[in-house]
Amino acid sequence: MGMKDQVRLDRFLAEEGIGSRADVKKMIRAGRVMVNRERARQGDRKIDPEEDEVLADGKRVRRNSALTLMLNKPAGVVSATKDENERTVIDLIGEPWAKRLFPVGRLDKDTEGLLLLTADGAMSHRLLSPGKHVEKTYFAVVSGAPDPELAERFREGIEIGEKRKTLPAGLRFLSGNEPADEALTPEDLARCGEGECCVIVSITEGKYHQIKRMFGAAGREVHYLKRIAMGGLRLDPALPSGRYRPLTDEEQKRLCPETDADS
Ligand code: URA
Repeated sequence: MGMKDQVRLDRFLAEEGIGSRADVKKMIRAGRVMVNRERARQGDRKIDPEEDEVLADGKRVRRNSALTLMLNKPAGVVSATKDENERTVIDLIGEPWAKRLFPVGRLDKDTEGLLLLTADGAMSHRLLSPGKHVEKTYFAVVSGAPDPELAERFREGIEIGEKRKTLPAGLRFLSGNEPADEALTPEDLARCGEGECCVIVSITEGKYHQIKRMFGAAGREVHYLKRIAMGGLRLDPALPSGRYRPLTDEEQKRLCPETDADS
């Protein structure tokens, strides 16, 4: 931990939800905040949230904003931290430290499902770096009938107007007779109507509108799109649309196995 990990005590307390900036300043002045067993006197003093023990009214204050959240993104919100006109995924997070978070990659406004929100830039970079080819899996409802030949084309790569063909992608048509995917709910599977089919697609790139463009290149429309997995991490099927929760330690490890090896 270096100097760059230091933050102002009052800011830290406010971000972790102890109170407003004014509240926590008052608490500090009233002697209700301890840092490493000593009474803190000044809000502008620096602390290291990982190393220092901070107590407010005798209770340990930990950095929640170090958590990575799993969000089941609903349609209609944009994957950005700020937007002039639209609701963002960050607006869905009812935590005082939400401002520290940013989405790991993007889903289209009308795409639903697994989106990670984190304040951990290094982790985000590892997951998004093109060289890593982290697999992203989607459930989609597309126009037309199941077609094994299309699965073959996806495997070989598709021309979508980029310099190169897409990397090999997995495409599986769901028949309804076999178990589809543990991250899917019965409501998802019921979305498939007349003249449509349900598919599971896996890609290892993240080109703009990639899945829609891949189906578009085959003359099909994507009517519904939901991300259900990223790397070794699956969307929790018990997490309702629009809700979020922190990743468990187990999920954190599954997501970034390389960090394990480092430590
Ligand atoms: N592909 C798309 O077309 N849209 C998304 O949101 C994600 C992948």
